[in-house]
Amino acid sequence: MKMNKQHKQHTIGTPLSPSATKVMLLGSGELGKEVIIALQRLGVETIAVDRYANAPGHQVAHRAHVINMADAQALRELIELEKPHLIVPEIEAIATNELIEIERAGMARVIPTARAAQLTMNREGIRCLAAETLQLPTSPYAFANSLEELSAAIESRMGYPCIVKPVMSSSGKGQSQINNKAEVEPAWNHAASGSRVDQGRVIVEGFIQFDYEITQLTVRAMNEENKVETYFCEPIGHIQVNGDYVESWQPQPMSPLALQRAREIAQKITENLGGLGIFGVELFIKDDQVWFSEVSPRPHDTGMVTLCSQRQNEFELHARAILGLPVDTRLHTPGASAVVYGQLESQGIAFAGVNDALRVPQSDLRLFGKPESFVRRRMGVALANGSDIGEARTRAKLVASRVKPIKGRLFQETIISY
Ligand SMILES: Nc1ncnc2c1ncn2[C@@H]1O[C@H](COP(=O)(O)OP(=O)(O)OP(=O)(O)O)[C@@H](O)[C@H]1O
Ligand SMILES: [Mg+2]
Repeated sequence: MKMNKQHKQHTIGTPLSPSATKVMLLGSGELGKEVIIALQRLGVETIAVDRYANAPGHQVAHRAHVINMADAQALRELIELEKPHLIVPEIEAIATNELIEIERAGMARVIPTARAAQLTMNREGIRCLAAETLQLPTSPYAFANSLEELSAAIESRMGYPCIVKPVMSSSGKGQSQINNKAEVEPAWNHAASGSRVDQGRVIVEGFIQFDYEITQLTVRAMNEENKVETYFCEPIGHIQVNGDYVESWQPQPMSPLALQRAREIAQKITENLGGLGIFGVELFIKDDQVWFSEVSPRPHDTGMVTLCSQRQNEFELHARAILGLPVDTRLHTPGASAVVYGQLESQGIAFAGVNDALRVPQSDLRLFGKPESFVRRRMGVALANGSDIGEARTRAKLVASRVKPIKGRLFQETIISY
């Protein structure tokens, strides 16, 4: 394939010229925005795609497009128009059948592979691959198409507590914990409302009483011998509230055996998914026991901590890996991230207190620039380093707490007088 040859030569062209190396992001939220910035720094021409205008990644790319990425025809037309060399999915809700066709026709390389995008957009695909094909340890699970099937699966196998999730959803949408029989029906109804595609199919998982959970960032990149090699970042610990991440830190201390098992699992799943790029392997840990939960074939939201903790953050690692460049996954300094929520429902909001927030030692902040705020929408992230993760976490949370979303005003009124 033509793409292969170009990749091996490691050439990068000039943006906006016939020699340009062109990368299209499908999904241009805060994670896509950072990938675009990393690509821009390497002289790559970037095309940002999202379902709404002025998405974070749109604001930093060479070109921006608004389409429904689940619409196969719209997706194909845009790819034919832009002719990217690489297509980088940032979200799960994409017409992945079309990506498979596009990859097969040699029109572009899909990162990491079209198959990986397809398998991970549906919990069923990735769970069956992990638990059945690869025999990785997971929670007990079953799939159900109706309230009756759900109740039967819980009564006969899962027991209580258990967790129900739509097979197609992310960020905890439609997910709930069931503690007793009376909670089964509300959980079924909640799942139906939170599903991305109203499929009426759910996964029910036995509840794992883990000590802590991690994201094992795993990078598949070219080594000096021009072979794909697997590289691991230090484990990232995190806290989730209602299935959505609120805080993360790196490195998460682990027993040597648990770390070894975590990496064996990460190696197996990423090797099967194949291609080049970064993966976020989500794992539950209790003592030395490790369970596979799920995997993102792309940068992971909890990995935003690497913006301050690693030599090359997860976005730079992704950019380098997909371009066939070498990577360095080493930790630089212990760090932490804490999410800044919108806290109000409004368009064009403003953030007060940024000056106080950034007075916290060794801190930093990303405000994503999302045009519309919701109470629980992630609008920014606070970052901080420390001598250990305890200090870093305290600082990151302090930074986040000092950022106050308020109704937007005319810029003139917010300017500092001195
Ligand atoms: N079987 C389980 N046992 C215990 N806790 C679980 C289980 N499944 C999910 N959780 C908790 O819920 C969180 C979110 O679950 P999961 O990652 O499956 O959902 P998601 O919607 O894909 O979230 P995201 O897109 O943010 O990764 C997990 O990180 C974990 O804290
Ligand atoms: Mg998850």
